[in-house]
Amino acid sequence: MQQDTPRRFAGKVAIVTGAGNGIGVPLATRLAAEGAAVVLADKDLAAAEKVCADIVAGGGRAAACRVDICVPQQVEAMTAFCRERFGPAHIMMNNAGIGGQRHFLETPLETLQKLLSTNLVGTFLCAQAAARDMAGLGGGAIVNFSSHSGLLGSSGRAAYAASKSGIIGMTRVMAVDLAAHGIRVNAVAPGTVATPRIRASHNDERREAWLKAIPMARYGEPHEIAAAAIFLASEDAAYVTGQTIAVDGGFTIAGLRVKNLAARDGSY
Ligand SMILES: NC(=O)c1ccc[n+]([C@@H]2O[C@H](COP(=O)([O-])OP(=O)(O)OC[C@H]3O[C@@H](n4cnc5c(N)ncnc54)[C@H](O)[C@@H]3O)[C@@H](O)[C@H]2O)c1
Repeated sequence: MQQDTPRRFAGKVAIVTGAGNGIGVPLATRLAAEGAAVVLADKDLAAAEKVCADIVAGGGRAAACRVDICVPQQVEAMTAFCRERFGPAHIMMNNAGIGGQRHFLETPLETLQKLLSTNLVGTFLCAQAAARDMAGLGGGAIVNFSSHSGLLGSSGRAAYAASKSGIIGMTRVMAVDLAAHGIRVNAVAPGTVATPRIRASHNDERREAWLKAIPMARYGEPHEIAAAAIFLASEDAAYVTGQTIAVDGGFTIAGLRVKNLAARDGSY
């Protein structure tokens, strides 16, 4: 039996950064399917325009704009574009981000600066610009994108982890500072997700290491991460703020994993 898509965001306006690729695609598409007017903001304007065209062709309301989330003037222009097209945003999805790994001893300062600038400063700028509009509306919801790497020490991720664990701390403080304005702020921490970028970059060895470490023994799908982020933005999460939800098939909660437990019963 086919179920009707819920319309949790009818009359709402959302901005999705990084909407042209990966997780951003189902994020923007589902928000629009559930009734939101969506601004798809991306450095890669052509990709955002393509996703936008698909949403509009399906009867949704959407507009694409170019933004580099690291540049304050461009972030201001993004929220101004949103106000002009659809009105101020009730929902801000801070999804745009970049990855990177290198052994700590070989990580150049520039790599750290680039990751902090995009992932942490970019999230700060977009959240602040959107929150100022939301304060005028009397409320809203912000969802930031952290990572399993913000929760655990995985090899070669000092710079990336710094940016993503910074997002977890910033999310908590934003939640406290913005609660009086009716704005909830939460984060998702995706595990490894089968986006085109990840599919192209993981070789067999890496894939095997991941599948061994994930209790659910599979990669996440982009729409599964989007679903959790959309829950956090929705009224279903009306009393949830300051939280980071790992969406990772159990990767970050797993301890020692032993098969054939019965054979080892009674020992440590
Ligand atoms: N895919 C994963 O396995 C995974 C795991 C953990 C966390 N995440 C996080 O989830 C989010 C989405 O990841 P994804 O895998 O879909 O990424 P992706 O690379 O597939 O897409 C990211 C999008 O962000 C855009 N972008 C990058 N820098 C930007 C900038 N400065 N300004 C504006 N747009 C910019 C890119 O153009 C692209 O369209 C990111 O924050 C990422 O760190 C992803």
